[in-house]
Amino acid sequence: MFASNVLSRVVGIVFESAQRQLKLVLPRCILSSRRMENSNLIPPFISEIKGFLDEEEGQRLFELALEACSLGPCLEIGSFCGKSTVYLGVACKIKGKTLFSIDHHRGSEEQQPGQPYFDFELLDSKSGVIDSFPYFRAVMQKAGLDEVVVPMVSKSHVVARDWATPLGLVFIDGGHSYDMVIKDYDYWYPYLLPGGFLVFHDIFLDPAEGGQAPYEVYKVALASGEFKALPMTKTLGILQRSGPVMVEK
Ligand SMILES: C[S@@+](CC[C@H](N)C(=O)[O-])C[C@H]1O[C@@H](n2cnc3c(N)ncnc32)[C@H](O)[C@@H]1O
Repeated sequence: MFASNVLSRVVGIVFESAQRQLKLVLPRCILSSRRMENSNLIPPFISEIKGFLDEEEGQRLFELALEACSLGPCLEIGSFCGKSTVYLGVACKIKGKTLFSIDHHRGSEEQQPGQPYFDFELLDSKSGVIDSFPYFRAVMQKAGLDEVVVPMVSKSHVVARDWATPLGLVFIDGGHSYDMVIKDYDYWYPYLLPGGFLVFHDIFLDPAEGGQAPYEVYKVALASGEFKALPMTKTLGILQRSGPVMVEK
């Protein structure tokens, strides 16, 4: 009698503890399997798109945009040929939201003829200037994002002039001089909703690795007290706007 009581008590404890463990582990498993399913929706041709975004950075952008879409639409500055746009756009498509993608498509300073990132295939032979828009447009069509991504072929400050829509995520990857990055930050961060993400590309903690302008502006944003820093993914610096977070998981 005593032995069977002890046994049933032990079985009960083991069962309760297994149940507790399962409750902890199960949501994580469901979340990561959902993430896997979702990231399978990124088209395989992403690796062939011209661009400067690392695959891990792209995956992180995709996950941030999935979360941000519960707050509002997303916006990027620096569409170029559409690599970051596809990662962000697929997340927006899944969530039924819009991605606004800004680029004058004339290339940054370092992409001009004679400069280190010049790409002859993007030179418009008629006008003699860079034009990445035809390439970008073809990528959007191939990725099935024509009804998700709103291309805005213009300079960032021109679009910002009459902007009024609150945003869930702002990705800054346009001009890389300090003057341009700080302007993009000043123009766009006010539209970011509490809980929304401000993401910078090309944050190099070590000056030997690359230009410091995005990192300088990232630090300005952090010092403003309006944001908290989230873990970086490679050169992706991620800040979350303070205030009540209303993100649905
Ligand atoms: C580094 S590339 C963007 C790379 C892109 N995000 C990707 O995933 O490959 C920078 C782009 O910003 C654009 N750009 C630079 N200054 C800009 C400005 N003031 N307004 C809009 N676009 C700008 C350039 O035309 C260029 O296509």
